[in-house]
Amino acid sequence: MLKIGHRGAMGYEPENTLASFKKALNLGVDMVELDVYVLKTGELVVIHDDRVDRTTNGQGYVADKTFAEIRSLDAGKGEKIPTLNEVFNLIDRKVPINIELKGAGTAGPVAKLIGEYISEHGWTNDDFLVSSFNHRELKKFKDLKPTIRIGALITGIPIGYAEFAQKLGAYSLNPSLEFISQEYVDDAHKRGLKVLVYTVNEKDDIKKMMELGVDGLFSNYPDRI
Ligand code: G3P
Ligand code: CA
Repeated sequence: MLKIGHRGAMGYEPENTLASFKKALNLGVDMVELDVYVLKTGELVVIHDDRVDRTTNGQGYVADKTFAEIRSLDAGKGEKIPTLNEVFNLIDRKVPINIELKGAGTAGPVAKLIGEYISEHGWTNDDFLVSSFNHRELKKFKDLKPTIRIGALITGIPIGYAEFAQKLGAYSLNPSLEFISQEYVDDAHKRGLKVLVYTVNEKDDIKKMMELGVDGLFSNYPDRI
């Protein structure tokens, strides 16, 4: 069972900050998960919402901000919103990184950055898993970087169970805990897909997921797994 640190280890440190990713590594995760947007000035930054309001002392849309504006914000406990490069450098291949494409137009710059880390810094395909609820953005990424694993995020139960993920050429189906069932898990496995469930924090849910035979859990408290 893969222990995946959700937005780092957001149960302990401000989500999607370097402090949170350091904490996740210290807790012995098998993978870290993060969310990305592109700024007005072109940089890839790690933040969950399309606005900065909930997680920082600022206001407004992430995509409307310049790098200088983003860096002036406090993301909690004095932490800054990190760039994707900064998180890559911190993780430094210790565990694979699950990059969730949140913002529109993230597929291209993420594919480019992954390409650079592979060709210039000795990283490999296995250091990455790219996911999204936006399956059109995910398909764009897959077309640009066919050798990098992708995970198809979904809330709810599609008519064809995991068929859509297989059609996307995904490595994993990433379903919500709320909608999981034995039939759904078995269908994904029959199609050769891993099943990585979000967001699983409670001990009884962790036990239930183990009984269903899923392959990994995203957790705010990855040490509970
Ligand atoms: O990738 C799993 C999970 O992070 C998806 O939901 O809203 O936490 O990004 P969310
Ligand atoms: Ca996410």
